[in-house]
Amino acid sequence: MKTVSTIDQIRKARARLRGSVGFVPTMGALHAGHESLIARALKENKHVVVSIFVNPTQFAPGEDLAKYPRTLKADLKRCQVAGASLVFTPTSEIMFAKGHDTWVEVEHLGKPLCGQFRPGHFRGVATVVCKLFNLIQPTRAYFGQKDAQQALILTRMAQDLNMPIEVITCPTLREADGLAMSSRNRYLSPGERERALIISRTLFEIQRRYEKGERDVSHLLSVMESSLGAEMDEVQYAEIRRLSDLGELESLNDEPALAAVAGFVGSTRLIDNVVLAPAKRPAKRKNPQA
Ligand code: PAJ
Repeated sequence: MKTVSTIDQIRKARARLRGSVGFVPTMGALHAGHESLIARALKENKHVVVSIFVNPTQFAPGEDLAKYPRTLKADLKRCQVAGASLVFTPTSEIMFAKGHDTWVEVEHLGKPLCGQFRPGHFRGVATVVCKLFNLIQPTRAYFGQKDAQQALILTRMAQDLNMPIEVITCPTLREADGLAMSSRNRYLSPGERERALIISRTLFEIQRRYEKGERDVSHLLSVMESSLGAEMDEVQYAEIRRLSDLGELESLNDEPALAAVAGFVGSTRLIDNVVLAPAKRPAKRKNPQA
């Protein structure tokens, strides 16, 4: 595994990779969720490139940029064990050189949910991922459903900007008790860690009610709000939206929907979501008598 940090080095190292390249962009503090993306990328590509970069442009003033966990040595070890060929670890000065003045904005998908609470966040995400795509020129890029809005925005960006890259969204990895894995979970005290479980428990309850036939969005929202409010210190949003474009919904039909939550437990901001979609029926056999 090779580790490089400059633009010139990553271009040269990338050019030496022959065959398909899967790309996993990260901000480090790697956990099993990140590793699951690397494993999927390795399964579907000849090489895997990982980037580790705490992107300052996606943190709003007052957010946790300064204290975001930085564990480079352990991260590189995890990348190596997971089978990455190349890791890109640029500095902020390299990625956003003096005079940087170009931004990528995915307009409508970036507005609801986290967009309301994190001004400039998705502009920073789309811009850095666009730059990383240009540098790495992957065949496929892998993102987690944990950050559902981010995955939708980046899928849209690649399509709208005619990038020849397949953007793949992978399932959320959870701890045994249901908590979605996140680099920010390490901020939680033991008591907060316990209270944070309300998020996945609530989302699973919504999924269970949906599967039992509940289709009334306002009813499901009131269940979400009262359940989350009991344990979270602040609920930023608890919403159910159309999965395809994050549009608002009054009732659920056959179209997949996203039940999504963001808020604080202590001073830690956590997000999670589940997809509400009709169970897939087994494919009909052509001739059931045969
Ligand atoms: P980061 O939070 O490090 O996450 C990197 C990737 O891992 C993202 O695609 C995220 O959705 C995925 N991921 C995180 N937790 C996961 C989990 N529990 N299960 C599955 N996948 C999970 O997301 C970012 O970094 C940044 O915004 C980035 C895309 C790198 C741009 O800076």
